[in-house]
Amino acid sequence: MKVDYWDRLAAEFSENVFEVTERDVHGVIRKTAKRLGNKRLTAIDFGCGAGASTRAIAPFFKHVLGVDFSEKLLSVAREKTHADNIDYRKADLTKKNPGFARCDVAFCFNVLLSADNRVRHLIAANVVQAVRSGGAAVFIVPSIESELRSYQVALACQTRDGFRRDAAAKETDARARRDVISLSQGVIDLGGAPTKHFFQDEIAELLTDCGLTDIVVSRVRYPWDIVLDDAPDAMPHDQPWDWIAVGKKA
Ligand SMILES: C[S@@+](CC[C@H](N)C(=O)[O-])C[C@H]1O[C@@H](n2cnc3c(N)ncnc32)[C@H](O)[C@@H]1O
Repeated sequence: MKVDYWDRLAAEFSENVFEVTERDVHGVIRKTAKRLGNKRLTAIDFGCGAGASTRAIAPFFKHVLGVDFSEKLLSVAREKTHADNIDYRKADLTKKNPGFARCDVAFCFNVLLSADNRVRHLIAANVVQAVRSGGAAVFIVPSIESELRSYQVALACQTRDGFRRDAAAKETDARARRDVISLSQGVIDLGGAPTKHFFQDEIAELLTDCGLTDIVVSRVRYPWDIVLDDAPDAMPHDQPWDWIAVGKKA
């Protein structure tokens, strides 16, 4: 996903791109920002997109800098932002030493999406590097477990709707084969974009490699309609999720 991909989405970003802070059913993201923040601390929101995540965390900090490599998205973010403790800045997080003043808390929500392992590692390392010693970093990444579970839930819905289980399973398996680009690398086609999905211990391992300690990985839950068209209001299954990983910088 190069910068042109994100530039093209900028005009209708909120309609076309899933903004985690807008669909977090239990308010886990704001609770995490509140727990880690206070009005003497600074934060950076890495890969801020149209700024929804930046605006969600800003009330808990003295100052938040939103960083993205898409100038078009930064323009949208600036237009939508009225808080006076937020600024935006352009930077490519795959470049070494992007030169930020260090922050107390770094946020990086759904940015480690590239199918390329080296790109993900560079971005994660730069984010952790930008945190001052004693600070914290928070990452949100897609979950491969959630993605695989959603195929089972789709099958359960179809059988409840009266479809024969073996026929429904065949169709669901065919869809999974189309979507999964690489199971061993956790890369899934999301609307035409090959998108990295992480196992729970895999994201903890990456962040440990990048210098975080005391990492706790938990779930941010979303409504079923993000993965299933026509999902009924009441579903007898736990909702889909991303991983939220919080770690300390020693
Ligand atoms: C899925 S959006 C997430 C936006 C926002 N964090 C949110 O949760 O609403 C991913 C963002 O990461 C940005 N991004 C991806 N690769 C980047 C890079 N190498 N440097 C800076 N920003 C990057 C994209 O431009 C896009 O705005």
